[in-house]
Amino acid sequence: MDIKTISTTPFDDQKPGTSGLRKKVPVFQQPNYLENFIQATFNSIPERVGQTLVLGGDGRYYNREAIQIILKMAAANGFARTLVGQGGILSTPAASCVIRKYKAIGGIILSASHNPGGPKEDFGVKFNTSNGGPAPEKVTSAIFAESQRISEYQILEAEDIDLDKQTKTQLGNMTVEVIDAVTDYAGLMESIFDFGRINQLLTSGTFRLSFDALHAVTGPYAKAIIEQRLGAKPGSVVNAIPLEDFGGGHPDPNLVYAHDLVETMFGDNPPDFGAASDGDGDRNMVLGSKFFVTPSDSVAIMAANAKLVPGYANGIAGIARSMPTSQAADRVAAAMGLDCYETPTGWKFFGNLLDAGKVTICGEESFGTGSDHVREKDGLWAVLFWLNILAVRQESVEQIVTEHWRTYGRNFYSRHDYEGIASDKANQLMQQLRDRLGSLPGSKLGNHQVKYSDDFSYTDPVDGSISKKQGIRIGFEDGSRIVFRLSGTGTQGATLRVYLESFEADPAKHDQDTQAALADLIAIADQVAQIQAITERDQPTVIT
Ligand code: G6P
Ligand code: ZN
Repeated sequence: MDIKTISTTPFDDQKPGTSGLRKKVPVFQQPNYLENFIQATFNSIPERVGQTLVLGGDGRYYNREAIQIILKMAAANGFARTLVGQGGILSTPAASCVIRKYKAIGGIILSASHNPGGPKEDFGVKFNTSNGGPAPEKVTSAIFAESQRISEYQILEAEDIDLDKQTKTQLGNMTVEVIDAVTDYAGLMESIFDFGRINQLLTSGTFRLSFDALHAVTGPYAKAIIEQRLGAKPGSVVNAIPLEDFGGGHPDPNLVYAHDLVETMFGDNPPDFGAASDGDGDRNMVLGSKFFVTPSDSVAIMAANAKLVPGYANGIAGIARSMPTSQAADRVAAAMGLDCYETPTGWKFFGNLLDAGKVTICGEESFGTGSDHVREKDGLWAVLFWLNILAVRQESVEQIVTEHWRTYGRNFYSRHDYEGIASDKANQLMQQLRDRLGSLPGSKLGNHQVKYSDDFSYTDPVDGSISKKQGIRIGFEDGSRIVFRLSGTGTQGATLRVYLESFEADPAKHDQDTQAALADLIAIADQVAQIQAITERDQPTVIT
């Protein structure tokens, strides 16, 4: 074995964000940059020797090169076995599934999620722990600390591995197994959902669906599961071949970036069901014919209908949502007599609740939904969940959603993003809001009386860890809310997110346009945070 120890010096910018370390490809291509971060990650798992590691990515530019480097470093760092998805591919939820199934000590997922890919675009490295979930803050802090004192890394000198053949190869003392990227995950889906009934829905009537993989990682999964196993007509899954640059697109399943799907679903003779997933397959957007389901409604509806899905037929333990996600799920939880947990943004915060069996279904406004089947949000799982509900209820997506509103009331909800603003302006905006928090309760903003205002702080009910400064909330007496946060996933400047929510119990008012229903809150948000004045933007970049 030819293990080399290479001297290196720290990079000061290796602090993982909401979801791992994300940088532009050229940053990762600097000598030692990737190596440092991988060694820092390995150093933070001293118990790695003799263990199994899972490795794969969303296929974006630099995926294959990074995998070769990481394999050689894993071999030099004492792992006994690494499972790699064929072609270097593993969707984020599939990686989580594989980590759990093969009892790996963890996994490295190469992805920048929904951010564009290509030589000048984004790349990312995320470490998931043995439960299959994103490393919690104490682990990411340890990785960062290691990255700040690193002085050397270990790497095996060896030939590159053939990633395209499903074989076992010896790399030093480590076995590399190239595994089919889809099989384990598809098996898990089959154990949860009523494939027979979904198959009937897709084959016996006039039902049509369109799944847009956005040239990203879910293509092979959706082809194998939706078309091959469930019998959807060939061509139901579009843009199904993962491309290194996602075809030049922005693989984010929302109304702005998944525009072709949106055009199909809002055009003439639309399919009954439309869905898309993101770069690494953990996000989802769900649409009916000329109808958009907000992610916040989606998680509430899934929870309310969970009994229709075999994997959840015995009931769910509880629900969790991230703080900025609308309170629609809280209403379902209350009606079902379940606890509803409010966590900071970031899937990692659901991990402890899922591990402790406190919740079964989780969701975020950022187009993420998932359950205790893995420890990541799961785009295709959400799509299959909806198809299972549709197959059982034999109603349209729109009927199911509007019926849900009639039962629970409607939480009008929208997120306004201001992307690429200067970091100092964004910080200034947040700081001046923070400075005013104490004076807001009891005052009136527009026609709304402020009930509370704070900077969200979360105490994990399982391990007691505290996460502060997770977003500024202004709650009103009538149940409406405005939340301000800076994104933790961007790679350029800052992104201000403004989350707006109001509640309407009266079904006669449920079909208002969302932006119109929220207009007064939108005006209040601008006034209280001085968005236009500070950012010099007169409108958001993206509205979801
Ligand atoms: C990733 C995380 C999610 C999070 C989302 C938005 O997808 O996995 O848990 O909700 O990013 O994060 P951001 O900080 O950009 O709002
Ligand atoms: Zn993602």
